[in-house]
Amino acid sequence: MKSANQLLRTLAACAALIGLAACGSKPPSVPQETAAPVTPTQEARVERADFGTMKDGTAIDLYTLTNTKGVIAKIITYGGIVTELHTPDRAGKMADIVLGFNTLEGYLGAHPYFGAIIGRVGNRIAKGRFTLNGTTYKLAVNDGANHLHGGLKGFDKVVWKGEIVKADDGAALKLTYLSPDGEEGYPGNLTATVVYTLTNQNELRIDYTATTDKATPVNLTNHAYFNLAGEGTGSILGHELMIAADRFTPVDSGLIPTGRLDPVAGGPMDFTKPMAIGSRIDKVPLAPPGGYDHNYVLTSGGGALALAARVYEPSSGRVLEVHTTEPGLQFYTGNFLDGTIKGKSGTAYAKHAAFCLETQHFPDSVNQPTFPSTILEPGQTYKTTTVYRFLAQ
Ligand code: BGC
Repeated sequence: MKSANQLLRTLAACAALIGLAACGSKPPSVPQETAAPVTPTQEARVERADFGTMKDGTAIDLYTLTNTKGVIAKIITYGGIVTELHTPDRAGKMADIVLGFNTLEGYLGAHPYFGAIIGRVGNRIAKGRFTLNGTTYKLAVNDGANHLHGGLKGFDKVVWKGEIVKADDGAALKLTYLSPDGEEGYPGNLTATVVYTLTNQNELRIDYTATTDKATPVNLTNHAYFNLAGEGTGSILGHELMIAADRFTPVDSGLIPTGRLDPVAGGPMDFTKPMAIGSRIDKVPLAPPGGYDHNYVLTSGGGALALAARVYEPSSGRVLEVHTTEPGLQFYTGNFLDGTIKGKSGTAYAKHAAFCLETQHFPDSVNQPTFPSTILEPGQTYKTTTVYRFLAQ
């Protein structure tokens, strides 16, 4: 299809060349408007490649998922990390929109959970302690006095078993991990599976399931750091965000919820209507070292798949929609990025170089009786779904 600009140029060229038979059949050569157009493929596919070796000799695999529209997601078996995600802008030009590294060494070094699966319990548990059925469990503490994102060696730092699986409409990879009883202090052997499906509708769908042989808290998520203008292009403060939530869970100085659900109305936490992320970021309540790092209470209440957030990046036109069955959403603006980590394009990741939208149950739920429960009992199946949908306008 010709764009409006191309048609205008064609008409102008025709007017100048009146009388020539070729007029109208083929436009004169005009500058190409899309630098790197999307390459449609016949069928969605998954390819496996080597991605290096752990110190103990364990081989890490890289799976490349490609859909029929040429969108690409790369995922490794170390931490189930989404290492690359290439999506089109409004002109069809592709860019990698997630932060990360090119090599396994990068991921084995210190980094703030780039693209990883988070578990057994995402977000914070106060003092790394909880009591369940009369027993007090002491977890690994890795964030001041608190437990964060599964502890010292959470699901982001373990090796998952990868298996290419059939998808009705796209390309899919199934990852499985058996977390032994007592790992990081948690009770019960937990079998976790995460299926990543790159659909032909330009969605990255993540289906999480888990079963256990002892009651345990479970709260799985993905910690992708997005920059819709492209990884390494600078700050996300100009992105416009809508979050479908009219309440959030206020926190103390250790980022542990107070237990209240406060209204967002009118203040800097309010994203019920689309707002630039940076428009009120300096007025955000207590979240050292400054920025958003808060759990939103989604209006949907969780259960059925519902729109949780929508982000628009004005220069590229890229849009990210987040749909989830979870009741909560952690909105984090990369506050702890401080320029010390260099990413895959060689750029240092500065504060606010990306944002995260982590679908989840509320932080510290296991110690907060009024929050939706995170406890999985033997015989039950934990089941949640999150869909990241990529559009352009
Ligand atoms: C947390 C932040 C934390 C970050 C680690 C986010 O999910 O809310 O407080 O610093 O993960 O990268």
